[in-house]
Amino acid sequence: MEWGMANRMAQLIQADGHCLFLPVDHGYFQGPTRKLEEPRKTLAPLLPYADAIFITRGVLRSSLAPDNAKPIILRVSGGTSMVGKDLANEGITTSIEEVIRLNASAVGISIFVGSDYEKESLLNLSRLVDEGEKYGIPVMAVTAVGKELEKRDARYLALCCRIAAELGARVVKTYWCEDFERVLTGCPVPVVMAGGPQVDTELEVFEFVYDGIQKGAIGVNLGRNIWQNDFPVAMIKAIRAVVHENASPKQAQELYENEKNK
Ligand code: 5RP
Repeated sequence: MEWGMANRMAQLIQADGHCLFLPVDHGYFQGPTRKLEEPRKTLAPLLPYADAIFITRGVLRSSLAPDNAKPIILRVSGGTSMVGKDLANEGITTSIEEVIRLNASAVGISIFVGSDYEKESLLNLSRLVDEGEKYGIPVMAVTAVGKELEKRDARYLALCCRIAAELGARVVKTYWCEDFERVLTGCPVPVVMAGGPQVDTELEVFEFVYDGIQKGAIGVNLGRNIWQNDFPVAMIKAIRAVVHENASPKQAQELYENEKNK
C-alpha cells in the first residue's frame, strides 16, 4: 500500500485496529432526520468521541469548522430521496477534485445489490475506486438496503460485502445480523457495523456491537442509535468503550447509566 493510502487508512483505523465512525449523512436522502435537523448542534458534543465523521460536502462546509481535527469520510453517492421512485437509483454526487479540496480521508458510496439498479451502483463503486486509488483515497462501500430493512440477513449481507470487497472497497460498512461471522469470513477487507433505525434499548446496541467486534468487525459506523438517543454523549462514550476498551455489554450499560446521570 502506498504511503498516502496507508496514511489515510491509519487516520481512520486507530492503533488498536478499531474505529468509531460517526455518520451524519442521513439527510442526503432523508432530509432533516429527527435529531439531525441542525447537524452543527448534533455534532458538536459528539465530535471528541468519534474517530471519523461520515458526512456530505454540504453539511461538512456548513456545520463543521475547518480547524476540526477529525478525519472526514465524504459521502459521495446520492441523487435520490425518501419520496422518490427508488432509493437505489443513486449516482456519484461529488468529483474527486472536490474530495481532495475538502481534504477528505476517505469517501463512502452505497451499493444496492439485488435492486433494479444493482449494476449501476456496482459500477459507480468501481469507478469511484479507480478515482480514489489514483490519489490514495480509500473507498468505504455501504451495503444499503433502502427501505427493505428485512433484507439484513447473513446470506444477503455476505453477498453484498464480498462483492464490495471484490470491486475494490478498502472498508465495507454493513449491518450486524445473526450469524455475523459468515459475513466477516467472506469479506477480505475490514468491516464496520451500522445501526439502522433506533432500537428499543441501549443494551441491544451494546450487545450487537460487542458481538460484532468479538467476531472480527473493526468497529462501527453508527448514527441514529447514538444521536437519536436521549443521552447521546453517554451513548457514544459507552459504545466507544465496547469498540476500543473491550467493555462488555453490561459494563457499557453501567457506563451509560453513570454518564447520563452526570
Ligand atoms: C445512511 C448511512 C449511514 O451512514 C448508516 O446507515 C449508518 O447510520 P445508522 O447507524 O443511523 O444506520 O449510510 O445514509
